[in-house]
Amino acid sequence: MKNKSLVSITDYSRDEYLKILDLAAEFEKNPNQEILKGKLIATLFFEPSTRTRLSFESAVNRLGGRVVGFSDASSSSVTKGETLKDTIKMVTNYVDLIVMRHPLEGAARYASEVASVPVVNAGDGANQHPSQTLLDLYSIRKTQGKLEDLNIFMIGDLKYGRTVHSLLMAMSHFNPTFYFISPDELKMPKEYLMFLEQRGIKYYEYKDFMPIISQADIVYMTRVQKERFSDPIEYEKTKNAYILRNSMLDNTRPNMKILHPLPRVNEIAADVDENPKAYYFTQALNGLYVRQAIISSILGLK
Ligand code: CP
Repeated sequence: MKNKSLVSITDYSRDEYLKILDLAAEFEKNPNQEILKGKLIATLFFEPSTRTRLSFESAVNRLGGRVVGFSDASSSSVTKGETLKDTIKMVTNYVDLIVMRHPLEGAARYASEVASVPVVNAGDGANQHPSQTLLDLYSIRKTQGKLEDLNIFMIGDLKYGRTVHSLLMAMSHFNPTFYFISPDELKMPKEYLMFLEQRGIKYYEYKDFMPIISQADIVYMTRVQKERFSDPIEYEKTKNAYILRNSMLDNTRPNMKILHPLPRVNEIAADVDENPKAYYFTQALNGLYVRQAIISSILGLK
């Protein structure tokens, strides 16, 4: 993994995922180490973020490295018309690794081709969010004791939700059965269904999760991605499609856990938070350890 960019989750192999997860477990036991001393990481966020940016920056700081960058592209020379190519070429001169979020699909791949340092994709439009996927795998393995042969429910915005796209690809290494629950307007795109079919992975599509929720090992809720809709009326039609409430969890498996990449809007009611099956806040914490593992692996320090 040394010097290898993480742009798509498919850039890494099954073995590489597992190495990252094992390393993250070590960081969970000891998150404060000086292994990044002398290293400088850029966080370039052209789109808003709370968890991804702050957990990457916390990861670096807790490992003794330093961070430069921006959380709002309007404070950069992009506002003067500077291209992504020139921005990346400049930042490459200063740092050892770039973490970038950008609204355009493919922007991270392009940046990795221009940069002379590794690039980690922190989300590119509706395309991919591979570091989120690795923390999702970590959370699934930690709560289920395995990654293999699980029933994974993905609920909500399966069209624009980049986290479900990356997770589906990664989980395909572990013989899952997928249950995709969405309104017609937000169904899992055909290319991802074809990806599963080519690999012989079972999937089912539904509009309602209540009749089948008792079969779930993982319920992966997603937010309807308002920022990706070109038509506000379409967003209004789908924004309240699914709301998970505590009373809906009575007949679920004892091992079942609820994940969500966050932020949530209203798709998980607040009364679910106190249920022991709610795992999304711990899932976000796991992001710190997993991002420590990603950075130190790419920089060849572990
Ligand atoms: N899960 C996630 O990407 O959250 P942020 O948008 O807050 O980074």
